[in-house]
Amino acid sequence: MRTSRSSFRARLAAFLTSAATTGVLLAAGAPAAHAADTPLRDLAAAKGKVIGTAVTGSKLTGTYGDTAGREFNALTPGNAMKWGSVEPARGTFDWAEADRIVDFAEAHGQQVRGHTLVWHSQNPGWLTNGTWTSAQLSRLLNDHIATEVGRYKGRLAAWDVVNEPFNEDGTYRETLWYNGLGADYIAQALTAARAADPSAKLYINDYNVEGVGAKSTALYNLVKSLKERGVPIDGVGLQAHLILGQVPSTLQQNIQRFADLGVDVAITELDIRMQLPATEAKLAQQAAEYKAVMNACLAVSRCVGVTVWGFTDSDSWIPDTFPGQGAATPYDENYAPKPAYHAIAEALGGTTTPPPTGACTATYSVTGQWDNGFTGQVRISCSGASLTSWKASWTFGAGQRISQAWNASCTQSGAAVSCSNASYNGSVPDGGSVTFGFNASWSGSNPVPTVTLG
Ligand code: G3I
Repeated sequence: MRTSRSSFRARLAAFLTSAATTGVLLAAGAPAAHAADTPLRDLAAAKGKVIGTAVTGSKLTGTYGDTAGREFNALTPGNAMKWGSVEPARGTFDWAEADRIVDFAEAHGQQVRGHTLVWHSQNPGWLTNGTWTSAQLSRLLNDHIATEVGRYKGRLAAWDVVNEPFNEDGTYRETLWYNGLGADYIAQALTAARAADPSAKLYINDYNVEGVGAKSTALYNLVKSLKERGVPIDGVGLQAHLILGQVPSTLQQNIQRFADLGVDVAITELDIRMQLPATEAKLAQQAAEYKAVMNACLAVSRCVGVTVWGFTDSDSWIPDTFPGQGAATPYDENYAPKPAYHAIAEALGGTTTPPPTGACTATYSVTGQWDNGFTGQVRISCSGASLTSWKASWTFGAGQRISQAWNASCTQSGAAVSCSNASYNGSVPDGGSVTFGFNASWSGSNPVPTVTLG
């Protein structure tokens, strides 16, 4: 975790530089650079689970590539395997980005989840603008699946064969495929995919199907009927594009009911978005919610694992689609792991301590000044952290001398001042503050010192 440590140090140094000029210094509860000792993929592997991420193929170098390779044991191409990407003009194929991702995954011992074969979105214009008979559509569907699945035969762990087939109320979404072929386009696609690669697990993938509800029940009924008919279906993908504060309480129950049907379950596109700016409190809540999703999957043996939809906020679809929202992934835009990252690690059995999410600060101010004397005040405030005792220290830079203090016990030796809490005000709760004051002499100038908490 060399990258996160050095970027943390850079941020801390920048903070200290700016804090010193204002006479405020973060000290007690200062974040330490606790990076996880064990990559997520090793923790997940020890539990027999997938921890994956969606990736953009062109970015798989540098820090992005290092992190994707080090932390995850599965990759999903975010866009590279969609029909519009691989066959932008009819009969003209571009596999470059998809190949790059599959090659990268194989070089890093990672699974690949193919995404996605049959969808209503990101299809090429020639397909969506065409006029097709049912027979033509059926042929297009079969040929597309045979070509794409066949190209990666034996190399992919799973395919999202059909993506987002349902409306919110559980009726079928009226797409090119549904309108042209009826609901059985789903069975047809699954059958074609099995024929093209018998070793890949075949999934139906959708969003807003994480909790028990009309849409997930429609998916449940579909899978049940496909299994009864002998149509190849191995799993369901719960995308899990979640909103902070809205993780469904029935997530584990829902995963379990699919498992009980005899299919695998994968969390395929997890992110948890929030209204920006991200605050420490929101990031802490997000971490708890990431952990809850991990735990729901870990609790059900047929839940194969969790894939995040982009691992860094710099590569997330959220800000483009939901203006004003973001910070949805486990790493920030500079590849520093967020509390959510540590929460995933903890859920997977990691033993590292996440960095404290808050701090206590001391603010020095001169509240009154006269000829050769002044009154000073120091306020100690905590946010996201707390103290049970404190000591505030500083160095007077222009010969000032303390004569008297209250609400603290102060000593001065040369220019060095040290003030400890009184018996009654050592405790500073999260969100609270205490103050102490003093009288002192000055002459010439009375510059504000930097206070250190310890
Ligand atoms: O590649 C072009 C680029 O050349 C152009 O300059 C730019 C201008 O907008 O667009 C780029 O394409 C964008 C593409 O992502 C690649 O970045 C598209 O506009 C944009 O619409 C597309 O968004 C993707 C979205 O699916 C489309 O619905 C997201 O990246 C992708 O993360 C997202 O993924 C979907 C899953 O496949 C299914 N579940 C929902 C999930 C989120 O929408």
